[in-house]
Amino acid sequence: MLLINTRKELKDRLSSLKKNDSIGLVPTMGALHIGHAALVERAVQENSVVVVSIFVNPTQFNNPEDLENYPQTLTADLGILEKIANHIIVFAPTIEEMYSENVTSRTYDFDGLDKVMEGAFREGHFDGVGTIVEALLTLVQPTRAYFGEKDYQQLQIIKKLTEIRHIPVEIVGCPIVREETGLAFSSRNERLTENMRKEASFIYSTLTTAKKKFGTESAVYVTEWVTKQFDEHPELELEYIAIAQADTLKPVVKKQKNKKYRAFIAVYTEGVRLIDNIALN
Ligand code: PAJ
Repeated sequence: MLLINTRKELKDRLSSLKKNDSIGLVPTMGALHIGHAALVERAVQENSVVVVSIFVNPTQFNNPEDLENYPQTLTADLGILEKIANHIIVFAPTIEEMYSENVTSRTYDFDGLDKVMEGAFREGHFDGVGTIVEALLTLVQPTRAYFGEKDYQQLQIIKKLTEIRHIPVEIVGCPIVREETGLAFSSRNERLTENMRKEASFIYSTLTTAKKKFGTESAVYVTEWVTKQFDEHPELELEYIAIAQADTLKPVVKKQKNKKYRAFIAVYTEGVRLIDNIALN
C-alpha cells in the first residue's frame, strides 16, 4: 500500500511505470464499504496498477450539512484496501492540494443528462462531480476508470464527460452491491438507526415489484403505484421516482420494445438521503 497526498508525488510515481502497465482508477469519497470494495477488486483483476482516490469533494455538495456530516474514516479505509491487494496506490489529497492551480470549478453541457433526477434536486452537483473526475482522469491518465451503477446517472454523465472532453479512458460500470436485506450499500447507511436500516429495505423491494409490474403496465401506472406505496410508508419520504431510458435518461413517453428502461428513486429518512435504481427490462 502506498499512501500519497500530493499531485506531484502521484505524477512522479506514475511516470516511473513501464509502457505495458495498465492503470485502473477508482474514484471514491472514502468511508469505504463492500460496494466500493467490489469496484477496487475488479480494478485489481483487470490492471497491473490500481489507484484509489479518497477525496470528499466539496464542489459536488449542494447541502453544506451533508458535507459536514460526511464520514471520514481514512484508517479504516486503508485497512479495507490493504486486504484487497497490497500494491494499491491510495491518493488522498487535501482540498487545498486538489483545488490548487489548474483545477477550478467548471460548468459542463452534459446534453440534458444532468437536468433530471439528481441534477434537478441537487443544484450544481454534476458540475462538481465533472470537475473532480476530469481532474483525476487528467492527473492519473488511467487505462480504465471504475464507477458503480448505484449512481447510475453519474455513470452516464462521466461517459459523456470523457466524450465531450476527449479523454481516452474506458469507463467501466459495475453492478450495485446490496446488503442482505436488499438495501444498496452506501456510506450514508451508517447514519441510519438499526431499525430504519432494516425498514429501508422497502426501497429495493418496491423497486423489484415495480420491475415486475413494468412488464405489463405503463410507466405512468408504475410511477403512480410506487408513489402510493411510499404514501403508505410515511417514515420513508419519497423525493422522486422516475422511469427513464437507460442511456439518455429521458422520461418514457411510450414504451418501445428495442429500448432499455430503468427506474430511479430518492428517499429521505431520519435526515439521510438514499438513492437506488433498477433495470426494468
Ligand atoms: P462515492 O459515493 O464514494 O462512490 C464511489 C464509487 O463507488 C461510485 O462510482 C459509486 O457509484 C460506487 N458505489 C457506491 N456504493 C455502491 C454500491 N452499493 N454498489 C456498487 N457501487 C457503489 O460517487 C462518488 O463517491 C463521487 O461522486 C466521486 C465519483 C468519487 C466523485 O467525487
